[in-house]
Parts: sequence; structure tokens; C-alpha cells
Amino acid sequence: MIFSIQLWCRMKKVCIVGASGKLGRYMVRHALDRGYGVHAVCRERSAAKLDEFKGRITLFPGHTCDREVIKNAVEGCDGVLAVLVPWGVNRYASGTAQAILDYARPAARLVFSCGWHITRDGQDVYSRTFLSALKIVGWIMRFVRFAEIDDQVRACHRIFASNTRWTVVRGSDLEEGESQGLPVWSKHVGDPILASNLTRRVDFALFMVEALENDDLIQQAPAIVGCKTRSALAFNMDT
Ligand SMILES: NC(=O)c1ccc[n+]([C@@H]2O[C@H](COP(=O)([O-])OP(=O)(O)OC[C@H]3O[C@@H](n4cnc5c(N)ncnc54)[C@H](OP(=O)(O)O)[C@@H]3O)[C@@H](O)[C@H]2O)c1
Repeated sequence: MIFSIQLWCRMKKVCIVGASGKLGRYMVRHALDRGYGVHAVCRERSAAKLDEFKGRITLFPGHTCDREVIKNAVEGCDGVLAVLVPWGVNRYASGTAQAILDYARPAARLVFSCGWHITRDGQDVYSRTFLSALKIVGWIMRFVRFAEIDDQVRACHRIFASNTRWTVVRGSDLEEGESQGLPVWSKHVGDPILASNLTRRVDFALFMVEALENDDLIQQAPAIVGCKTRSALAFNMDT
């Protein structure tokens, strides 16, 4: 009894913001497997998507950009894993990021997800086709009020400028499938190791959860790719 109380007291807690999405649910699974206590934030209407974890997580229903919801959810947490999405035109991503930056414990590890299109230092190399497609798709999505890619960019720049213990994990194209292991990463899009541009979603989540305990990733924006992809394997043979 005393042992289990001590164990409970030492158990680290993480808050998963956007827990009901595909990436979010994989993160919940990985976090529980590693023995973390989990606070989960998701929209009220999506709470049922987390039924499989009932009794093992604490749910904080609400929009992820609701500052009061985030304030309550991150309280007492040693880490925050956040899915940054650009949906809607109400500054969803930047509101979510700002609330986490404002309310998480100063020593907490903050790990955010986004895509390769985010650049921290302008040293990433993108094809012209990619940049044009991003511009056009971004404009159309905003025009139909579906999503605001610029706001995801804004959110990440706020994170980069903060002096918290953040990591921004930049994902490639994603696919479903069984885990292949921890993705490999590089500092800049365009680096040869990333050329395959594909990661299993379950492994994107694994990278996010492992980043909680990896201090080398503090204030880094790793771009990831599956460890079994052609470019990752070719790079490992060369080195
Ligand atoms: N998909 C890709 O190919 C890709 C590639 C690179 C990086 N990423 C990054 O991976 C992360 C998530 O990807 P995913 O594929 O796992 O996404 P997902 O399953 O679609 O989940 C996205 C999240 O967005 C929420 N959401 C959906 N519609 C919303 C709306 N209208 N308003 C507010 N919230 C809404 C979902 O909550 P509900 O459960 O409540 O709907 C969920 O938490 C993001 O950070 C994304 O930038 C994705």
C-alpha cells in the first residue's frame, strides 16, 4: 500500500492537448505505456473518441485554445504534448500555443507537433512546387474559412521566441501502419536523410513522447522521417 502511494506520488503527469485526433490518441497510448499520468484536452463533442482510455486518463473537455481549459489541464503536469492544427479561422493554433506557454509550469517540457512547412531559421530547402502548392492551398482554405495555415506558422514563431523548454516536432507526410521504431531527424528540410518524406503516424507520436525525456531536443525543431524509409536507411549505410 505504502509502496503504491509512493509510486503514485512519483508518477509524472503529462497533458495531451488535442488528444482525440489520430496523432493524439497514439500519444495517449504511448504515454500510458510509459507510466505517465495523462490529462487529455479535446473538444467536448470528440470526448467519445477517448472511450477506450476511460478510467486511465483525466479528461478536460473544451476547445484547445480556451485559456481556462488549458490552465486547468496543465496544472501539475511535468510535460505538455500539443497537436497544433490550423483548423478554422479563429487563431486556433496560436491561441492553443499561447495558452500552453502562459500556463504550463516554467520547468515543464513542452512538445508541439506541426508539419515540415514550418521553418525556424529559414535554412530549410523546399521545392518550388511545394511552396506554390502551400500558397495556393493556404489561400483556398482561408477563403472558404476552413483553415488558417498562417496561424500555425504564427503559433510556432511564438514558441521559437519563448524561453520555455520547448521542442517543435515537424512531421513529414504521414501514413498509418504498425510502428517501425523511433523516426530519425534532421535540423533542416532538404537534408538528404529526410528525402523519403514519410513517417508512420504511430511513430510521429512515439517521437513526441520520447522527446519529453530527451534534453538534447530542448529548443530544437527536428524534422522527422521514418527510420525504415529509403532515405533514412541510405543515410545510415553511409555513416
Ligand atoms: N496529416 C498529415 O499528413 C500531417 C503531415 C505533417 C504533419 N502533420 C501534423 O500532425 C498533427 C496532427 O495530425 P493528424 O493527422 O493526427 O490530425 P487529426 O487526426 O485530424 O487531428 C487533428 C486535431 O484537430 C482537431 N480538429 C479537427 N477539426 C477541428 C476544428 N474544426 N476545430 C478545432 N479542432 C479541430 C481534432 O480534434 P477532434 O478530435 O475534436 O476532431 C484533433 O485533435 C498536426 O500537428 C499536423 O500539423 C500532419
